Amino acid sequence: MQRLRKAVFPVAGLGTRFLPATKAMPKEMLPVVDRPLIQHVVDEAREAGIEHFIFVTGRNKGVIEDHFDRQLELEMTLLERQKRAALDVLQRELPEPGSTSFTRQQEPLGLGHAVWCARELIGQEPFALLLPDVLVQHERGCLAQMIDAAAELDERANIVAVEEVPAERIDQYGVVGVGTQKGKTFVITGMVEKPPRERAPSNLILTGRYILQPEILKILATQDRGAGGEIQLTDAMIALSRTQPFYGLKFDGVSFDCGSKIGFLAANVSYALARPDIAPGFRAEIKKILAEINGR
Ligand code: UTP
Repeated sequence: MQRLRKAVFPVAGLGTRFLPATKAMPKEMLPVVDRPLIQHVVDEAREAGIEHFIFVTGRNKGVIEDHFDRQLELEMTLLERQKRAALDVLQRELPEPGSTSFTRQQEPLGLGHAVWCARELIGQEPFALLLPDVLVQHERGCLAQMIDAAAELDERANIVAVEEVPAERIDQYGVVGVGTQKGKTFVITGMVEKPPRERAPSNLILTGRYILQPEILKILATQDRGAGGEIQLTDAMIALSRTQPFYGLKFDGVSFDCGSKIGFLAANVSYALARPDIAPGFRAEIKKILAEINGR
């Protein structure tokens, strides 16, 4: 496959499942340990070799743009107070000048519409799409694993990350049909958005990481509204799968749906316990809380 240079981050949604926290603050800025969700996902893309970061933002999302810019006053203050370690973190994580682009989705008409809003910035090359409210925890990031898998596939391949969910929750997700398998990769024979349990083609769901060919953008341009009155990416992928191959990758790692409260809290616990600087103190706090609750 052509080298993947660009990644799209749709951040224009309303985050209604997280109100009132998301009334004035974007969901994507909620912190998991000490970094906003969007920073975790941008890091995953950067580690996978992505060079251009495209954000599809909306009203009230200006703070995301600020997060990826320098804060000169803050840097000066940290320098004066000799807080070198904090300053290093800020400087290390700053994207290269000119490597970010921001465009707006004027109305949250759905994920498919958000991707289409980035069409001029994507151009005519394959691109990665990462949903910032999904975190995948693993030594090797999910997108890097997908790029590894892409090296074995044909030029026009589209790849989606998939994972198993219990049958009783299958009707909440996009579900894929499974064809010929090779290692962790398989040919996708069909896709369906939120099927009733008895009509789900498998127990494998779309996780929020995609590598897509640019032809998806032409399809999205004329895509009708689908489930929930939104322009659905899955519908456009189904149309594209008639002319281009789609593959699924069962990635290594644990995923967290940080758009839901339980997924977000679980991500915080899991990421904190994986941090050597935080884990010992945090584990002791959790033990204390559990002992307190159990003793009641
Ligand atoms: P979600 O459906 O999880 O986000 O979309 P949401 O709509 O903000 O959340 P709820 O369901 O109301 O709580 C996944 C990602 O796609 C973006 C969201 O910002 C989120 O990061 N998105 C969604 C858009 O950019 N535009 C849209 O129209 C819809």
